[in-house]
Amino acid sequence: MKQTVALPQAYRLLNHGPTVLVSAAHGGRRNVMAAAWAMPLDFDPPKVAVVIDKNTFTRGLVEASGCFALNLPCRSLADATFTVGSISAKDEGPHDPDKFERCGLASFDGPVTGLPLVGGCVAWLECRVLPEPHVQQAYDLFLGEVVAAQADGRVFSGGRWHFAPEHESLRTLHHIAGGAFFSVADPLQAKRLF
Ligand SMILES: Cc1cc2nc3c(=O)[nH]c(=O)nc-3n(C[C@H](O)[C@H](O)[C@H](O)COP(=O)(O)O)c2cc1C
Repeated sequence: MKQTVALPQAYRLLNHGPTVLVSAAHGGRRNVMAAAWAMPLDFDPPKVAVVIDKNTFTRGLVEASGCFALNLPCRSLADATFTVGSISAKDEGPHDPDKFERCGLASFDGPVTGLPLVGGCVAWLECRVLPEPHVQQAYDLFLGEVVAAQADGRVFSGGRWHFAPEHESLRTLHHIAGGAFFSVADPLQAKRLF
């Protein structure tokens, strides 16, 4: 079901404000965390912004590797999304299973960066950090250039999301607070007033 998304259309994967899973790896460690504060920043080449708090384990992997991936979870991954956003790999012992394993998340290698991408998601953006040390330090804000994008062709095709009723479990998640999410699928086509 995975289909390549043309890079100039990658911003559309994030335009509707989904919660994402940030995955990263470095030096034999991999990790994944939830992030509601992610957004597109430019069309072509596509760029994104995401807040990665300095207290997270993921942040060190991103800074060390210069890469991160944004994975878009769907309704069927709501509990796993909330859980990876509620526990930290900083609390793992050296022989403990990592958060992917603990939360039952499958993974596969990103075709361009080799980053661990989260199975069962509906879109994946591989990004290289655009270094802005002051912005990262002061605001925990990371900018990235999207170097590869894929999406589940059942719900994203022709450069657009199509959340048909038969694919309810594949709708993206939009965080409210405390593990409560909206999942949206009430399309509306606006017309210009004049
Ligand atoms: C729904 C949800 C959204 C979150 N959004 C963000 C976010 O945008 N940025 C952030 O730094 N942390 C966010 N968090 C918190 C991190 O996911 C959390 O600190 C996580 O435990 C970090 O994992 P790590 O230390 O293993 O990297 C969010 C948590 C949840 C549950």
